[in-house]
Amino acid sequence: MTVTIVGSQLGDEGKGGIVDVYGDATDVVARYQGGDNAGHTVVLGGEKYKLSLVPSGAVRGKVGVLGNGCVVNPATLFEELDGLRERGLDPDVRVAERAHVILPYHRVLDGIEEDVKSDDDLAAGTTGRGIGPTYEDKAGRRGVRIGDLLDPETLRSRLEYVVPQKRALVEDVYGLTIGEDVDADAFDVEALYEQYLEFGERLSEEGMTVNCGAFLSKRIDDGEEVMFEGAQGTSIDIDHGIYPYVTSSNPTAGAAAVGTGVGPTVVGRGDVIGIVKAYLSRVGTGPLPTELGSVEGQTPEGGGRPEKADLAAAIRDEGGEYGTVTGRPRRVGWLDMPMLRHAARANGFTGLAINHIDVLAGLDTVEVGHAYRLDGEELLTMPTTTEAWGDCEAVLRSFEGWDDVDWGDVVSTGYDAIPENARTYLEYIADELDTPIYAIGVGPGREETVVVESPF
Ligand code: IMP
Repeated sequence: MTVTIVGSQLGDEGKGGIVDVYGDATDVVARYQGGDNAGHTVVLGGEKYKLSLVPSGAVRGKVGVLGNGCVVNPATLFEELDGLRERGLDPDVRVAERAHVILPYHRVLDGIEEDVKSDDDLAAGTTGRGIGPTYEDKAGRRGVRIGDLLDPETLRSRLEYVVPQKRALVEDVYGLTIGEDVDADAFDVEALYEQYLEFGERLSEEGMTVNCGAFLSKRIDDGEEVMFEGAQGTSIDIDHGIYPYVTSSNPTAGAAAVGTGVGPTVVGRGDVIGIVKAYLSRVGTGPLPTELGSVEGQTPEGGGRPEKADLAAAIRDEGGEYGTVTGRPRRVGWLDMPMLRHAARANGFTGLAINHIDVLAGLDTVEVGHAYRLDGEELLTMPTTTEAWGDCEAVLRSFEGWDDVDWGDVVSTGYDAIPENARTYLEYIADELDTPIYAIGVGPGREETVVVESPF
């Protein structure tokens, strides 16, 4: 059996906590897209582990898999693995031989391209990890894959083909000088070859590379439970998100099949759980119709609600809304129901996990963007262009707030112990999305989750 965990908003919905809660019953946790742009904190035995690439399940003794749909920076991977080993853990992580490799020039180009785009307000506010440039090379059929690192001749020929193109891009298109403006080694075939061959040798020595689809299928056939862990969120999906302010992969559930090499029927036989944060947060640029307050450098000019800056700051601090990877303050807003209706359809959610209702506790009123008003019409789902989305005005609905309570008690008593007004809010979300609630997050720790339903 499988379960697929997907972010239903803009990333940072608290997927890690739910992965942990349901992870106990799983044997394998596989990521199917993204790379070290995804930050997650795992708390285990009072210790905090900040990870961006290693699936959180691997910290808990599960097999962690980076699927073929991921882009893998081997430097980050080994840094995280070494860090975990130094702290006494023994993570078992496998990497798809078909996954693409993030090379140092991808990171450099990510930075340069964002700089250039910012002149036209087109910067996505990327994490700077080289994610977009690596997926570009994958689609352009000039990428280097994990399997290539295991074969010196192939690695050399791939680099000899692609590196001169990257040099020309930097020098002739962007007018920069390699060695002065950007690190020379990142654009040097010999230096890259030596370093990446070494990564390949280590992957090989540690037996980490796999044919992902075959590996997972065998384990599923053997009766093991597999979790597909999506990174980022539906509204920053490259196809279904707020293009161009998106990441370069597909966090939506369909990619769980494509990005690991199992069939869509395998994914579809299991649950697809949409992770919802009880309000909205966002790292990066672009419109956000329900935004409260604003964040310099991210909120577009004229966006946000300056008069709600205090409320935004309170939610940001209470919810710890600062990027795990970058430390950047996140933009915050009310829950956006058109965004969630879009996510429920695009992913085919069979269950919802709604997080962070404790963060909103103590507010007199909690509002929700129930619909949008655009050109005199009311919309219940997101328009297809981001420009139209930016013109949408949120039609708000108000809910009475709920008190802060002892959430530990709530967890031990169960769903009915959740304050009534919070339950009204939760049930409104479930009704609107026509999807049952599986779990409610009432705090950051994994034990701070009210589990209503289990996918296994
Ligand atoms: P990239 O994935 O680094 O290329 O960044 C593209 C966009 O996705 C930017 O707006 C990032 O802030 C956003 N993004 C990437 N990863 C995450 C994540 O894990 N959580 C939230 N936003 C993300």
